[in-house]
Amino acid sequence: MEQQQNWRGNFQTFRQVIPQMEELPFQAREAINVLRGNIQLSGYELRTIAVTSAMPNEGKSSTAFRLAKSMAGLGTRTIYLDCDIRNSEVMARYQIQQSVCGLSEFLCGRVSLNDIIYHTDDPCMDMIFTGAVAPNPSELLSGPLFVQLLEELKKNYEYVIVDTPPVCPVIDGALIAKKCDGTVLVVECGKTEKTLAVKATRQLEYAGVRILGAVLNKVGASNKGYGYGYGYGYGYGYGYGEGNTKKAAKAAKKQNKAAQKANAKSGRDKKRA
Ligand SMILES: Nc1ncnc2c1ncn2[C@@H]1O[C@H](COP(=O)(O)OP(=O)(O)OP(=O)(O)O)[C@@H](O)[C@H]1O
Ligand SMILES: [Mg+2]
Repeated sequence: MEQQQNWRGNFQTFRQVIPQMEELPFQAREAINVLRGNIQLSGYELRTIAVTSAMPNEGKSSTAFRLAKSMAGLGTRTIYLDCDIRNSEVMARYQIQQSVCGLSEFLCGRVSLNDIIYHTDDPCMDMIFTGAVAPNPSELLSGPLFVQLLEELKKNYEYVIVDTPPVCPVIDGALIAKKCDGTVLVVECGKTEKTLAVKATRQLEYAGVRILGAVLNKVGASNKGYGYGYGYGYGYGYGYGEGNTKKAAKAAKKQNKAAQKANAKSGRDKKRA
């Protein structure tokens, strides 16, 4: 406990970044909040949550970042950990101009944890960036320092939201997810091929990953729209899209109702058991 307080005391030395992000439409925000709620209800012990997907560009980083922000918005101490060492776009996406020290430097043993944590404008949300591109991300992520990092972060944050690379093209995603308490799989609506989603799920299961559920992302999203859906267990869901709002909202409503029924049933079944 004393050690934890010392560590917290060092927060004063951390540098700050202000991620620039666009405001999400109401329904997309709500969908993220539903995702947050479902993760919180999935179990108190689930604190390190990996967000992954089968292939690139399906929305892992956006979902992970928004989820972390949503958790912090509740006053829950949360850190967003970017583990996509090979190909992170987070710095550019959120217009972080300064040069930062990140995960790869920490995993090489060059810097300490204090050097890689950045405050944001939200007092409950911190960030760790990937740092310099490393030639051997898989080795770094398989090493003991990565596990140590997660354990240390768990002492100081209620949630560690871990952004990962896609599972199918590289092994890193599964390596990272395996070390987290739970994993959410992002599936891009109308784009992710079923075979690849199944392949990714198998790969994660084979690695011993606890899959919490799936996010159906970009539901009815047009060029300017945002859409999120979330499936857990029997399936919760939500959808939004400016391009196809009515249709998406109707589908999401239907999905939500079915999910509520299924979850009520699952609750009854659990009680009986
Ligand atoms: N729900 C959404 N609605 C509309 N656009 C979205 C949504 N989620 C993500 N996007 C857009 O899709 C693109 C890819 O998103 P993101 O970078 O989050 O994907 P990723 O899976 O992390 O990609 P990578 O595998 O390259 O890391 C970005 O341009 C992002 O703005
Ligand atoms: Mg990404």
